[in-house]
Amino acid sequence: MLPEVKIDKKNFHKLDLSQLPTPCYVIDLNIVKQNLQLLRKIKEQTSVNILLALKAFSLKKIGPMISDYLDGTSASGLNEAKLAKKYFRGLVSTFAPAFKESEIEEIVKLSNHLIFNSLNQLEKFSVKAQSEDVDIGVRINPIYSEVKEKKYNPAGFDSRLGIHYDKLKDIDFKNIDGIHFHSLCEQNFSTLKNTWDVIYPEIKTYFKFLKWINLGGGHHITRNDYDVNELINFLNEIKVRTKCKIFIEPGEAIFFQSGILVGEILDVLKSKDSKIPNIAITDISPTCHMPDVIEAPYRPKLMNESINDNGINVLIGGPSCLAGDNIGSYNFISLPKIGEKIVFLDQAHYTIVKTNFFNGISHPSIFFWDSKKNELELVKNYTFKDYEMRL
Ligand SMILES: Cc1ncc(COP(=O)(O)O)c(C=O)c1O
Repeated sequence: MLPEVKIDKKNFHKLDLSQLPTPCYVIDLNIVKQNLQLLRKIKEQTSVNILLALKAFSLKKIGPMISDYLDGTSASGLNEAKLAKKYFRGLVSTFAPAFKESEIEEIVKLSNHLIFNSLNQLEKFSVKAQSEDVDIGVRINPIYSEVKEKKYNPAGFDSRLGIHYDKLKDIDFKNIDGIHFHSLCEQNFSTLKNTWDVIYPEIKTYFKFLKWINLGGGHHITRNDYDVNELINFLNEIKVRTKCKIFIEPGEAIFFQSGILVGEILDVLKSKDSKIPNIAITDISPTCHMPDVIEAPYRPKLMNESINDNGINVLIGGPSCLAGDNIGSYNFISLPKIGEKIVFLDQAHYTIVKTNFFNGISHPSIFFWDSKKNELELVKNYTFKDYEMRL
């Protein structure tokens, strides 16, 4: 998640926090449905195929609901492909930077599209895929990106992801069904258009061989300011121009603003020294529960943060031993109290899929919330057994 994205609290200010054990993720299924409805509208107006990128969010319990709206899933390897087949419907498109010999047979059986990252891998495994009638794709590196943070830019010249254009002439496209690229991250339509304008002259000679083109993820379609109409026009135009089926595989856009992470203030340390911040320790650990806060890094939005200039700044940190297990510095009207609940917004995607048990810190429990009926459903809570089992 990048820092500049504007986040809305949606209906979460109406949720009664007192009934929730902390830490916990709460997913408002109505927001997920609203996001899916917009994606369905785009599908209806363009016949684009939309796959859920499981890496962003993979709670199997709503697999059937998501499958009612979308065309399938994109998987990052064997386990996600298995999850896709078991709990979701539709097409499974699998990409990995490199597939393993020991897993490829199973992956081929589970997948409809297999996307290779190099000529080596293509040479090694494409016969296996063809024997099972699986579509073969190649991932190309557009070498164009508007992502500033190197860690999140898959399309750098030195990226390990995707084949450079000058190598495409070494591929026999008679055996290739599709081209895939992924170079966006939380971006509006203009970035997709700019990327396409760079890619188009490099790949247009191959369209006659191809069945499909997959435009990857990172399309921030469900954000208020996203140019949906421009996207619709573009998808229709390239469908005609390339005579290919067009796929996109968003993750974040499906769950954007649909989830929160609720925690409790465990301790408050008021500072008497201007060099030392006021500190609040919570039961939310960024390193365990929202690692992108540290990895990206970014500052998650705190619900109801004070905008009062006379407020008090408090550094909020987690319960782990990691010195940098800090969420960020936030403004409060008055010093928060021990036992108070706090809520971080937009925590559904790239969180639950990334939690870990560092320090033995438990995962947050997971709730679904129907904000229209104000009904909560506990999906999962974690005990010592879960921690013990994974070691
Ligand atoms: C190949 C690929 N496809 C799709 C996605 C989903 O991206 P997002 O969740 O930003 O839409 C990613 C994210 O890293 C990706 O690497």
